[in-house]
Amino acid sequence: MMQTVQQIETIAELRRQLREPRRQGRRIGFVPTMGYLHEGHLSLVNEAKKHCDLVVMSIFVNPLQFGPNEDFDRYPRDLERDLQLAASVGVDMVFTPSVAEMYPQQVKTNVSVAGVSEPLCGRSRPGHFDGVATVVLKLLQIVQPDYAFFGQKDAQQVAVVEQMVQDLSVPVKIVPCPIVREADGLAMSSRNVYLNPEERKQATVLFRSLQLAKQRLAGGEELESIRDEIVRSIQAEPLADIDYVELLRYPDLAQLDSVEKGERVLVALAVRFGKTRLIDNMMVTV
Ligand code: PAF
Repeated sequence: MMQTVQQIETIAELRRQLREPRRQGRRIGFVPTMGYLHEGHLSLVNEAKKHCDLVVMSIFVNPLQFGPNEDFDRYPRDLERDLQLAASVGVDMVFTPSVAEMYPQQVKTNVSVAGVSEPLCGRSRPGHFDGVATVVLKLLQIVQPDYAFFGQKDAQQVAVVEQMVQDLSVPVKIVPCPIVREADGLAMSSRNVYLNPEERKQATVLFRSLQLAKQRLAGGEELESIRDEIVRSIQAEPLADIDYVELLRYPDLAQLDSVEKGERVLVALAVRFGKTRLIDNMMVTV
């Protein structure tokens, strides 16, 4: 029998549906997404099911986190397929608000997390993390989950959300979950569908470069020379156009001159292949 999932489109209805389970003390897990689900999203649901009695997923392509020349309009969407996938992994409720439901009037409140939002994607995509923090706080207010699950592929997003939750005493436990990769190492992303076959092939350089960085860090090499080596290995792919390659301290994303033993280093990459900008990262404890 085909499994189905409860789809809820309004904030009022979702709140109403969650009232009784919450009163019964059921633990609510939340998986926020922008849809076009892949194995990475489904792994967040699997993790949520381990910790929680009821799993709510949101599917909302949030206009606030896209810049004027970014891919908001062409961001891939397939709600029917998403609902089937969500049902197949046991999501209980899928919240699919429209833009008008989420933002019925011009948004005048902006959540801005200083420091961790600034380097990496914050520099390349001005305003992006304000849009993310604003929508995540709003979704957390709507769902009021006990736990919320985020993929570590967006490591900076995890750092921003953790800082925000801490600063604003939001009563939720943020659970970062490991990156899920294709067999050849490419990190799963809804944007991978944009890649043509040659770009897709060359994009595997990202994971290879991260593995190289991990080896070099383990070998005690200087950060600057590791960075140079990663840049060279990515530039060897003719279609790759580097946005950034950085090695930063995690979770505060501070610049590092050298690394201490036991320190967590985030090796983070953003690279364009044609019109598609991919990000990937690896966390290395030195
Ligand atoms: O990671 C995403 O898909 C989005 O940034 C999120 C967390 C759903 C907010 O729109």
